[in-house]
Amino acid sequence: MNNLRPPIDYPTVFAPRRARLAARMGEGVAIVPTSPERLRNRDAHYLYRYDSYFYYLSGFPEPEAVMVQIAGKAPRSILFCRDKDIEREIWDGFRFGPAAAREVFGFDECFSISEIDTRLPQLLADQPALYCHLGSDEHWDARVLGWLNAVRAQVRSGVSAPAAIHDLHGLLDDMRVIKDAHELAAMRRAAEISTAAHSRAMRAARTARYEYEIEAELLHEFRRGGAPAPAYTSIVAGGANSCVLHYVANDAPLHHGDLLLIDAGCEVDGYASDITRTFPVSGRYSAAQRDIYEMVLAAQAAAIAATRPGALWNEPHDAAVRVLAQGMIDFGLCHGSLDKVIENGDYRQFYMHRTGHWLGLDVHDAGDYKRDNAWRALEPGMVLTVEPGCYIRPAEGVPPQFVNIGIRIEDDVLVTDAGVEVLTRATPKAVAEIESLMRG
Ligand code: GLY
Ligand code: MN
Ligand code: MN
Repeated sequence: MNNLRPPIDYPTVFAPRRARLAARMGEGVAIVPTSPERLRNRDAHYLYRYDSYFYYLSGFPEPEAVMVQIAGKAPRSILFCRDKDIEREIWDGFRFGPAAAREVFGFDECFSISEIDTRLPQLLADQPALYCHLGSDEHWDARVLGWLNAVRAQVRSGVSAPAAIHDLHGLLDDMRVIKDAHELAAMRRAAEISTAAHSRAMRAARTARYEYEIEAELLHEFRRGGAPAPAYTSIVAGGANSCVLHYVANDAPLHHGDLLLIDAGCEVDGYASDITRTFPVSGRYSAAQRDIYEMVLAAQAAAIAATRPGALWNEPHDAAVRVLAQGMIDFGLCHGSLDKVIENGDYRQFYMHRTGHWLGLDVHDAGDYKRDNAWRALEPGMVLTVEPGCYIRPAEGVPPQFVNIGIRIEDDVLVTDAGVEVLTRATPKAVAEIESLMRG
């Protein structure tokens, strides 16, 4: 794997996004904060992760930063960030400071974050509209209202305050749902590293004694590939744990006859990959495991075949459900006609989640699934997961050979002009391919 990648030219990648935001706003001021650092306990923090909306527009990785976009006849992009501070840099590492940040990230102006309370009311003065996101963080809401009230307090001196407040996320979600070339390059890289991690996990499974040993193999490959962290907590679920959808304890022993379900992907330059594979700890699927595996694989193939520009969001899901429901009837898990099993939702006992979600900076990424109450049509540049599954818990009437089999197969799919590109296609998936890799 080649770890050498060209440095990001931030103004080329990020300034056009700010220009597009300004064009969509028409006029007014947008304010976008990054995430705060979060204390884990006493002096120890969680690994820092910037806010996805802020990063999408700025590329700026440091905490304690706020971006302001002014729209209208003379659009301007402004960044507030931490000052250079040699004393703090000795302890915590490099900080850009406003002068270097302006240059590197291509902002029109950059100020110390310590000036934000005096400058923001000035920036809001005589602007018709404020674009921001309220309601997720009380502390942030109070700051925004404080700046707004500071402008309102000046009305007697002839200054007008924004009369309208619009939700910024709506505008940005629509931009984020279509990925540009820079985003796709990061997602391809995340897919490549995650593929290496899943392959490594398959090779290690036959001699592993505990789920966490396999989690360690995944993390090893993520970090070795240069990814700072997983995009979400890895699920490494052996045996009956494979039927727990959000299993993250990853601390149970592995047994020879078990299946192992791994849902894991790394993050690269902020972008997620999200891959699930399910394989036998022993290296060979039992007949019953293989039956259910082939059924889920066929459901996934049907869902991917239904993924193309112009298809509605629910079409891949409906295609997967048809194949799964028919398989469940064939294996005695559901009873009655296919239409009936789908209509009355009997299949949901074994398939209780949707077949995918948008993927990008967030693992469950920004973007609407419906428009005017109708499923949205897929467009080139959208990236979604296709992840059907089947989870068979012990219950009355369930054929015993299938009990505790939990299988999910998940790939990341880019909608293209011609159809799709499966970004994670290199991750072993066919029974013969997995068994041969595990034998090696
Ligand atoms: N890994 C989270 C998901 O598959 O949606
Ligand atoms: Mn997943
Ligand atoms: Mn997923």
